[in-house]
Amino acid sequence: MTANKPVDKALSLTDEVVTAFDATPDPRLRAILGSLVRYVHDFVRDVEPSMAEWSTAIEFLTAVGQKCSDVRQEFVLLSDVLGISMLIETINDSNAPGSTDSTVLGPFHMTESPLRELGETTDMIGVADPVVVTGSVRNTRRELLSGASIDVWQCDPNGFYDVQQPDVQPPGNGRALFHADADGQFWFQTVMPCHYPIPTDGPVGTLLNATSRHPFRPAHIHFIAAAPGHRTLTTHIFIPDDPYLGSDAVFAVKRSLIGEIGAVGDDQALELGVPTGTAVLNVDLVLAPEITN
Ligand code: BEZ
Ligand code: FE
Repeated sequence: MTANKPVDKALSLTDEVVTAFDATPDPRLRAILGSLVRYVHDFVRDVEPSMAEWSTAIEFLTAVGQKCSDVRQEFVLLSDVLGISMLIETINDSNAPGSTDSTVLGPFHMTESPLRELGETTDMIGVADPVVVTGSVRNTRRELLSGASIDVWQCDPNGFYDVQQPDVQPPGNGRALFHADADGQFWFQTVMPCHYPIPTDGPVGTLLNATSRHPFRPAHIHFIAAAPGHRTLTTHIFIPDDPYLGSDAVFAVKRSLIGEIGAVGDDQALELGVPTGTAVLNVDLVLAPEITN
């Protein structure tokens, strides 16, 4: 009998491992594991890591796990910088014609944003110029959705979220949960967000550094819009002309999500209680119909 060559052995090993999962009762789990084993084995055959490189990979993943806590998810950050979060987001996007594109949730969303009245500001510090956000929530037939809620969160003009600076910013700064009015319209005041680096004090930062990648995300405001009978939309609106729009560290920019900044006219200024010429961002969010089986 002739011994298998290493490559043949490696191929039969892959089949052997896939077969080991054949009795998995859940067909979806069986399919996922079979595909995972085949792709990962092909990856290993392609890269042919040395034992030292394999140890480095294990140490890296161990460090990613050790960096995770109640307020830090380094695995999500790793998936973000590898473009996996955005890929999954895009695969799961409603794709309903006319609906607003979705993008990543990110790690700074708090489940409980402070409930605020329409027109209120999300800025609890008050040193920067106000920016007005006006918007609407509609369905794909362009009809306004009166029961919509809009959860918003953003960093401050220095590029920090409240949770990153508990000694500097009050909890809830830059955040709000609004209910659209009877016509599906919403408006609030805020301050201009700035581009900011994703957290780099962990192994994901080490990876970016080792690969000469910058950690910046272009300035944006996060939105989660929800209305009965519609798919909840998680997205951002990006501030135009940001230097990082073309190189977001987490690949989450879609052209359709780059907003336009205008200036508040005399009548609107009176209505909103801000000086004429205040920057205004208009955000029209279109929700896809809920999927019914
Ligand atoms: C964010 O936009 O808040 C974010 C998204 C991904 C990674 C880090 C931050
Ligand atoms: Fe963000």
